[in-house]
Amino acid sequence: MQFTIKTGSPEKHKTGILVIGAHSDGKLGQAAIAVDQACGGLIARLIARGELDHKAGALLNLHDPEGIHCERLIIASLGKEADFGEKAWRDAVGAVAKSLTTGPVRQAAAVTLADIELPGRDTAWAVQQATRIIADAGYGYDATKSKKIESKGVSEVTLLTINKALTELKTAVAQGKAIADGMALTRELANLPANVCTPSYLAETAQLLGTQYKFKVEILDRKDAEKLGMGSFLSVARGSHEPPRFIVMHYKGGKPKDKPVVLVGKGITFDTGGISLKPGAEMDEMKYDMCGAASVLGTFKTLGELGLPLNVVGIIPATENMPGGGATKPGDVVTSMSGQTIEILNTDAEGRLVLCDALTYAERFDPACVVDIATLTGAIIIALGKIPSGLMANDDELARELVDCGTRSGDRAWQMPLWEEYQEGLKSNFADMANIGGRFGGSITAACFLARYTKAYKWAHLDIAGTSWVSGDAKGATGRPVPLLCEFLIGRSKAN
Ligand code: BES
Ligand code: MN
Ligand code: ZN
Repeated sequence: MQFTIKTGSPEKHKTGILVIGAHSDGKLGQAAIAVDQACGGLIARLIARGELDHKAGALLNLHDPEGIHCERLIIASLGKEADFGEKAWRDAVGAVAKSLTTGPVRQAAAVTLADIELPGRDTAWAVQQATRIIADAGYGYDATKSKKIESKGVSEVTLLTINKALTELKTAVAQGKAIADGMALTRELANLPANVCTPSYLAETAQLLGTQYKFKVEILDRKDAEKLGMGSFLSVARGSHEPPRFIVMHYKGGKPKDKPVVLVGKGITFDTGGISLKPGAEMDEMKYDMCGAASVLGTFKTLGELGLPLNVVGIIPATENMPGGGATKPGDVVTSMSGQTIEILNTDAEGRLVLCDALTYAERFDPACVVDIATLTGAIIIALGKIPSGLMANDDELARELVDCGTRSGDRAWQMPLWEEYQEGLKSNFADMANIGGRFGGSITAACFLARYTKAYKWAHLDIAGTSWVSGDAKGATGRPVPLLCEFLIGRSKAN
C-alpha cells in the first residue's frame, strides 16, 4: 500500500473511495460540509433520518454518489458529538482501515479523517496515526499456509487535508508507514512457529536488517557467551538442542559521542517452562515468548527506514526454554555475568534469567538509558488486563516519558511500583537471590529481580505479556509495543 498526503477539497477529488467522518448527531465538520453541499444535502438528510449509527466506527457506504467524484463514499460514524474523543476517532479510523484493506480491489482511496479536531492533537499526529493504523491493517499472515492471501483492498491511500503544512505532514506519513513496516516485521516473526523462528532465525533476521540498513550486527554463540560469563542466560539454553544466540545491533544515526538508547528484548523462541513444565493448554502460545525480541527487531526496521538521527543499541538474548537431560533443575545455582548468584527455584521464570545477563552486557555501552521489553509474567495480565503494557523503572522521569509516548501513540503503558519492600520476596538460602518471589505481585518481583542488574544506568522495563498478542479466534501478534518504542525514539532524536 502506498501513502501520499495532499491538500485539497474532498468534493472535487477523483478517487475510487472517499472517506469522511461525521457525528451521528450534531453538526458536520469541514470535509463533511463540503461533500454534503456537493451532494445536495444528502449527508445531512441521512444523519437526520438516523441512518448513521451512534457507535463510533460504524460505516455507511454510499455507492456511485452524485455530485462528487468517487465510486463509493464511506461515512464513518464518529459517535455522538458529546461523547467524542480520541477513542471514538481511533474506532472510526480502525473501522475504515479494515474496510479499505478487506474490500474489493481498487486503486485508490482518499481519507479526510486527519482534519477532525481532537483536543491536544494536531494534524501531523492524526496523519501519522491514520497512516500507521491503515497500513497495519494490511498485514496478513500466510507464511506457513499453502494457500496465499489474495491481494484485496486499495493499493493507494491519499490523506486529504485542508492543512497546508505539507513538509511536516509528509514526515508524518513517512513515520506512520515506517512504524507499520516495523510492526509487520514484529508480527511476522512472532506469528512464525517456533520450529521456523529459532534463535538462529532471529539472528539471521538481525543480520539481514543490518545489511539492508547498513548497521553493524554481532552474533555471539554459546562459546562467546561462556567466555563472557553469562551463566544465567546459558542456564536457560541447557535443555534445548537449538543453539542459543546473543544478538547485538548497533544503529548509529547520531553523533559518535551521543550516548545510545539501549533496547533489550526477551527472545525465548519457545517457553515450555523447562523442568518446571507448563500445563498443556494453550502452550502453543509460548511461541510468542520472543515478542520482546521481535519488537526490538521491528523497531530497528523503523529506525532504518526513517534514518533517525540518534544512536541505538539492540540486544537480544535468544534461546528456547526446554526440558531435557541437560536442563537446569529447580534448586540449581548459577552465576550471572554480574557475578551475582541465582538459585533457580522455578525454571519457568526464565525470562529474567536471560535478561539479567543482557542488562549487565548493556553497561559497556554507557547508555543514555536502557529499556527492556519482555513477555515476562502472566501476572501482569491479572494486574492490568490487556490494555496497557506494564511499566516499571528505576527513574521516574524516564517512566513518565514512556507513559506519555504510550498515550500519544495509542500503544499505552501503565506504571507499577518498584519499591524496595518487594525485594524481600527474592531471598534465597543458597544464593544471592532466588529467581522467583511469592505468589503475590509477580510482575513486580520479576522487575525487582531485573532491578538488581540495572543499577549503573537509567532503566525501564516493559512487561508486554498482555499486549503483544491476542488469543482466541483472532489469535495473532499485535506488533505492540513498536508504536510506543518508535514514538520514544522519534522524541529522543528530536531532543538531540
Ligand atoms: N513467558 C512467561 C510469561 C507469560 C505467561 C506470558 C503467560 C504470557 C502468558 C514467563 O516465562 C513465565 O512463565 N512466567 C511465570 C513466572 C512464574 C514462574 C514466577 C508466570 O508468569 O507464571
Ligand atoms: Mn516461563
Ligand atoms: Zn517466558
